[in-house]
Amino acid sequence: MTAKTFALVVICLAWALHRYVRIPRSLEWRPSPPSDSATMKAVLYTEHGDTSVLRVHQDAPQPQLQPHQILVHVYASSINPCDYKNRRNEVPSWVVPKPKIPGADVAGVVVAVGSGVDVERVRPFRVGDRVAAMLPLLHSRWGAAASYVAVDANLVAHVGPRVSLRDAAALPLVALTTLQALESVTVSQSPTEAPRKRTILVQAGAGGVGSFAIQYAKHVLQMRVIATASSEKAEFLRSIGCDQVVDYRNEPFEEVVHNVDVVLDPVSWLYEDRTLASEVLRPGGHYLNIVGSDWAFSGTEQGNGPRSLWNWIKAKTFGPFKYSFVVVEPNGIQLQAVMDLLESATIRAVVDRTFALDDVREAYEYLEKGHATGKVVLVHEKEEVESGSATVAEES
Ligand SMILES: NC(=O)c1ccc[n+]([C@@H]2O[C@H](COP(=O)([O-])OP(=O)(O)OC[C@H]3O[C@@H](n4cnc5c(N)ncnc54)[C@H](OP(=O)(O)O)[C@@H]3O)[C@@H](O)[C@H]2O)c1
Repeated sequence: MTAKTFALVVICLAWALHRYVRIPRSLEWRPSPPSDSATMKAVLYTEHGDTSVLRVHQDAPQPQLQPHQILVHVYASSINPCDYKNRRNEVPSWVVPKPKIPGADVAGVVVAVGSGVDVERVRPFRVGDRVAAMLPLLHSRWGAAASYVAVDANLVAHVGPRVSLRDAAALPLVALTTLQALESVTVSQSPTEAPRKRTILVQAGAGGVGSFAIQYAKHVLQMRVIATASSEKAEFLRSIGCDQVVDYRNEPFEEVVHNVDVVLDPVSWLYEDRTLASEVLRPGGHYLNIVGSDWAFSGTEQGNGPRSLWNWIKAKTFGPFKYSFVVVEPNGIQLQAVMDLLESATIRAVVDRTFALDDVREAYEYLEKGHATGKVVLVHEKEEVESGSATVAEES
């Protein structure tokens, strides 16, 4: 290869990287050092494995508040599949430093505000405020299953008076996943396009992501919503805004769903090929792969991997549809929009079950079966967590 060709290849690669590969913002967040003296209750694991590696400690170190951070007394947190995937798999320690506190979703009360946090902002954070946040997923040993979290102020949102801290804790990660996935769809809508009700297929509609995405697509984006679920959950899905439910156990979705504008797919390891090889998406439609993998520990937790990458390259090169990978990132501005939707009761938090923090193993064992309806919440402080008059959680 001549020097000229080499330079051309480097320039093309740099352009492709810049154009298509977003460096995760998680790499920008620097986790706090542990405090020398202050301790807290926290769930920790020091090695990867099943739920037996989770231990509740009464005197784990607290995170040391940094100038740009807010220290939150956590009243409730919720759990997500990414927590147990990071725990079960031997991921490198720079991704999951140990001892690790699992969990990303918190709601609680501000107990300290760092000296560098902007107190002049429109809605400043003050001690005593009720807040929620999604914590960074990578790079940090600090997670949600603890009495305190120190979190960058720009990742935090206020929780309105009508919303319980249990409901606020249920939503951050799944809601941000939905907003970030549908953002690309929303912005690609041409202003000159004739108004038309667009249709979305939400796979795994009864799950944490699905139960939020159905409501957001229906009540905020005004879309027609189709979702997959087992038959006993159909009525529930209709109650949160679903127009059509496909019983995935008895009815192949690709035989009954055609020409939708968007597919949001948390079951991509099973459904991606079936979706792309059929007429589920209309030409020009948008496939959103949220990189789902099996709930059961099957050794194939990377989902479709190379096949997905190939599908993505094909779609980028030839069409006929758009294809995006979505990996959620914390975002305080988007989370505030979600908390405001909860406050106005435009959407509701679907909480399947709550567990005490001490019962964290049972909580994960329940979620890891893959049949939760909505979210599983850990209650850290029982007395205060249910206050807020707009609690509309579902109990299974
Ligand atoms: N990339 C990202 O940033 C991102 C963000 C969030 C989540 N995710 C991934 O997305 C996936 C889903 O997350 P989640 O929080 O929604 O999980 P979840 O709450 O555990 O989902 C459980 C739901 O999935 C349904 N389900 C199971 N198998 C199904 C199938 N074959 N077809 C249709 N529905 C099925 C179940 O319904 P039935 O009981 O009726 O079977 C249950 O209601 C996970 O793999 C997660 O890691 C990725």
